[in-house]
Amino acid sequence: MIRLATVQFTPVHGDRHANIEAIGRILEPVSADLIILPELCTSGYFFLTKEELAPLAEEAGSLACCFFSHLASAKQAIIVAGMPEASGGRFFNSVFVFLPDGTVPVIYRKSHLFYKEGMVFDKGDSGFPVIRDERLDLSIGIMLCYDWRFPEVSRVLALEGADLIACPSNLVTDAWRKVMPARAIENKVFVAVANRAGSETKEGERLDFKGCSALYDPFGEPVAEAGPSEDGVLLAVIDPRICRDKRFNAVNDILTDRRPELYGAICQPR
Ligand code: ACM
Repeated sequence: MIRLATVQFTPVHGDRHANIEAIGRILEPVSADLIILPELCTSGYFFLTKEELAPLAEEAGSLACCFFSHLASAKQAIIVAGMPEASGGRFFNSVFVFLPDGTVPVIYRKSHLFYKEGMVFDKGDSGFPVIRDERLDLSIGIMLCYDWRFPEVSRVLALEGADLIACPSNLVTDAWRKVMPARAIENKVFVAVANRAGSETKEGERLDFKGCSALYDPFGEPVAEAGPSEDGVLLAVIDPRICRDKRFNAVNDILTDRRPELYGAICQPR
């Protein structure tokens, strides 16, 4: 059984120290095997220039990376955290995965950029990672917020063996609340959405983040849900083994029933 903690909070735009402090405070009483935080949780979301983003971007040995490495070791937890990443003069909207030994085996770079993200971030080039933890007997797939609109992402993660899809998010619409349970059902996986609350305004344009972080079971049922504006942690205990049998009746199996030979042509670019 896996103790899962999904964090929802309200980052302060541009204040990495305040956000790290808030995350430390929220997680202080939490004991979990896997902790999932929102997208861009150390920096805030709305950036229109690379100059403003650059001082907040993370890489090996940076402030937030050191913080999360220590936290993962102290809690003996896997931590999945969305943060801006600096790499070779480019920036990515990334998810860093910290293991209990403090290492970062995987950085997922957001594949589908939302709205004005393309003004500061490059499109991700990392593929869709699944992290296998033998000690926990758990396979964690990673996607990031707007990736939810592309069913290919969760399908690829399920085909790679994910039991649970962690989806750090900064969601600004409500449509996802209908669709994330479908992603869980159609792939027979757990889906954990760690969304943020609050709002940010840039050049007179305001973005409202929708909170309502949630964990869905492989049947699309909510196991735990947060409200729209509160800061806090959703705690749940899950059994990832229930995701492994992809049959849903005596005949059908959602992965082996697929007909990829029929999908290829229509999946090509128009
Ligand atoms: C989003 O991808 N932040 C909506």
